[in-house]
Amino acid sequence: MPDAKIVKLTDESNNRSSELPLVTGTLGPSCIDLGTLYRDTGHFTYDPGYGSTASTRSAITYIDGDEGVLLYRGYPIEQLAEHSNFLEVSYLLLNGELPKQAEFAAFEHQITHHTMMHESLKNFFQGFHHNAHPMAMLAASVASLSAFYHDDLDVDNPDDRRLAAIRLIAKMPTIAAAAYRYSIGWPMRYPRNNLEYVTRFLHMMFEVPSEPLMLNPVAAKALDLLFILHADHEQNASTSTVRLVGSTGANPYASIAAGITALWGPAHGGANEAVLKMLEEIGTPDKVETAVRRAKDKNDNFRLMGFGHRVYKNFDPRARIIREMCHKVLAELGVNDPLLDVAMKLEEAALKDDYFVERKLYPNVDFYSGIIYKALGIPTEMFTVMFAIARTAGWIAHWIEQHETPGARIGRPRQVYTGAVPRDFIPAAKR
Ligand code: CMC
Repeated sequence: MPDAKIVKLTDESNNRSSELPLVTGTLGPSCIDLGTLYRDTGHFTYDPGYGSTASTRSAITYIDGDEGVLLYRGYPIEQLAEHSNFLEVSYLLLNGELPKQAEFAAFEHQITHHTMMHESLKNFFQGFHHNAHPMAMLAASVASLSAFYHDDLDVDNPDDRRLAAIRLIAKMPTIAAAAYRYSIGWPMRYPRNNLEYVTRFLHMMFEVPSEPLMLNPVAAKALDLLFILHADHEQNASTSTVRLVGSTGANPYASIAAGITALWGPAHGGANEAVLKMLEEIGTPDKVETAVRRAKDKNDNFRLMGFGHRVYKNFDPRARIIREMCHKVLAELGVNDPLLDVAMKLEEAALKDDYFVERKLYPNVDFYSGIIYKALGIPTEMFTVMFAIARTAGWIAHWIEQHETPGARIGRPRQVYTGAVPRDFIPAAKR
């Protein structure tokens, strides 16, 4: 609901003004509703990168970037990380409330019974070159789900929307594991529905037909935690992409496939892969100083991957949790990874360097996650796929919220045109 408060903007050159209502949520800064600005003053607003722009109302996730706070449906991420699990968090994101025991059992049953992918979809993988990036296979496979479920694609039907959410959360690990196994030439595994979500995924990834998989429960616990921490992050680039595509009325599989491709970039979810490559390049703690120097050099494209965030100007709360988990997992799995020493040295050096302090650049969620994935035996190219599996819960919760919000309009930004002014066409012979 717009507040009674009004902000008045006046263009003094022509004395045209607009009285703009303030919109307030339950937490966070209020927003100036610019809906009538163009009509009243003839001006658009200009905010590339959307640093000051709220694109939507949402009741799903809240971030206070100055204080380092992250809440899913009001629950602090630290409490969910300690007490919940990824499927319960997915239910929470989708439904707004934590499930009662029977509700959770029903949800888990539904997810578990949608884990298989269509046999024909398996054939799609054969069309990829063996060294195709798994994010390419994931995006293509998820988009193609719409071709398998075209009878249930009425975006205005709440049952169809809900079914798509269940299918996506259920099938994403199956597709992800299939992409991995195709890339290494292993036969695909069917989901084992007697296992819980994360353990089932690890089995699909690592089980070979010839022998049983001995899985350390620490691995499933760590991956479940990483999935919780990555499940949603309000209007980030990939979620905004899902919403923009969703605003056209596109089906949920097409919308989520667009989110996957947006996530892939190294400034967003692709950073976890980039962090590990960077740590490997740095190699030893004594090279950290050079890396920090390069990251500060404006003539050098090198950035400290896993550092900085558009919203967090304080520690990313997810990074704190992952950092602690990283030490535990490595100790419990008996892994001695020298890259952890490089990461800790890099963090220490950056946190006391004026360049990083002044710009409030802290380690983000991706800084330590790669070291955990590596310890679990997950190859670097699969890191962003891990992020995508988890973020699917958030993406589809936002897509559903968007369709449940009355009065939603197609997303259609304006621009500052900087091209040629009108001119006459010149025939080719006279140019
Ligand atoms: N290394 C060195 N300098 C940096 C870094 C970095 N990682 N990040 C930002 N800066 C500098 C930047 O050069 C700029 O300096 P100046 O004011 O002198 O021009 C200043 O800090 C502000 O940076 P920005 O690029 O304007 O900030 P942004 O909000 O547009 O970008 C970011 C945020 C996350 C894209 C950026 O910090 C970055 O590229 N980080 C590395 C990639 C990364 O780790 N991405 C994962 C983000 S968290 C997971 C997710 O949600 O996707």
